[in-house]
Amino acid sequence: MEILLTTIGILTIVTLTIIVGTGGKPMRAVSGFKETFKAINANRGALVITALTLVVLLVFLYAFYFFPHRNMAPEQPIPFSHQLHSGVKAIDCYYCHPYVERSLHPGLPPVEKCLHCHNCIIANHPQILKEHEYYNTKTPTPWRKVFHVSEHVVFNHKRHIKKEIACESCHGQIREADRLRTHRFKMGFCIECHREKKAPLDCWIACHS
Ligand code: HEC
Ligand code: HEC
Ligand code: HEC
Ligand code: HEC
Repeated sequence: MEILLTTIGILTIVTLTIIVGTGGKPMRAVSGFKETFKAINANRGALVITALTLVVLLVFLYAFYFFPHRNMAPEQPIPFSHQLHSGVKAIDCYYCHPYVERSLHPGLPPVEKCLHCHNCIIANHPQILKEHEYYNTKTPTPWRKVFHVSEHVVFNHKRHIKKEIACESCHGQIREADRLRTHRFKMGFCIECHREKKAPLDCWIACHS
């Protein structure tokens, strides 16, 4: 019924527009259309190029700004979401990364830790069943690395966390990420903050082991 009414409405508006627009001589619209078509035909080369350029530009912009997998980290064995766990459910970073201020290798949580919760929460979710498989076969979850520094840099979290530098200032908005983005730290980034905070700059001997 709504469709019928809308169609009649649109047809009435179109008819009225044509009649008013052509000063009461509707056939003018047809001859006008012919001329427009001729003009289009004469310039079709330019038009095709313009259209193609537009399409390429839009695709490029989309790829550059919106393509969802831009810089995405490699796919993880279990699609773990920080946004859900540390954002929505507000689980503390230290619960899963407890060694971050103590060890050179903060590491990632063992599957037992996931199962502390997931033995009860959504226990039959296919991804959680995958966790059980890892657990039962004693396979460490093959998480893939996301944040990288050059090989010759030995980075230690300890001093930074003691100075209460937030995780976010180096890792970005982890709490808002469903899937993390691959990131390579550049030396300039380290030095910039060290300069700002009057942290040692002569440490590059210490960093570059
Ligand atoms: C001053 C910058 C900085 C801050 C602050 C920082 N991180 Fe890092 N983080 C790094 C760098 C650099 C690496 C890569 C180290 C490497 O590959 O050796 C890293 C790596 C990691 C890793 C992976 C470690 C591994 O074993 O693969 C985890 C987990 C991590 N950080 C968690 C945290 C948490 C949680 C916090 C906040 C409590 C935090 N980070 C604060 C710079 C930082
Ligand atoms: C402190 C408790 C807790 C821990 C620890 C925990 N989770 Fe969760 N997880 C949750 C809650 C709560 C949900 C939301 C369940 C729901 O949708 O009702 C969830 C949901 C999930 C989901 C489903 C997401 C979806 O898209 O439906 C996956 C997969 C998951 N967690 C994986 C993990 C992995 C892997 C670990 C270990 C690294 C882990 N969880 C550790 C509490 C936890
Ligand atoms: C419920 C457990 C859990 C919580 C809470 C959690 N993480 Fe993680 N984190 C993981 C798991 C599992 C991975 C590996 C999968 C991935 O990279 O998405 C990971 C990966 C990371 C990495 C990438 C390490 C690498 O491979 O280079 C960083 C950095 C990190 N977490 C920081 C944080 C910060 C900061 C918080 C608090 C805002 C936090 N995490 C809270 C479980 C957790
Ligand atoms: C957001 C600020 C910030 C960033 C980013 C940062 N640092 Fe630091 N860093 C500090 C501060 C502040 C100290 C001094 C801590 C202290 O005085 O105990 C420090 C200390 C250090 C030390 C110890 C120096 C010594 O003499 O023992 C090393 C090594 C270091 N940082 C390496 C790095 C590297 C490598 C990166 C880049 C991946 C980095 N930092 C990024 C703020 C930062």
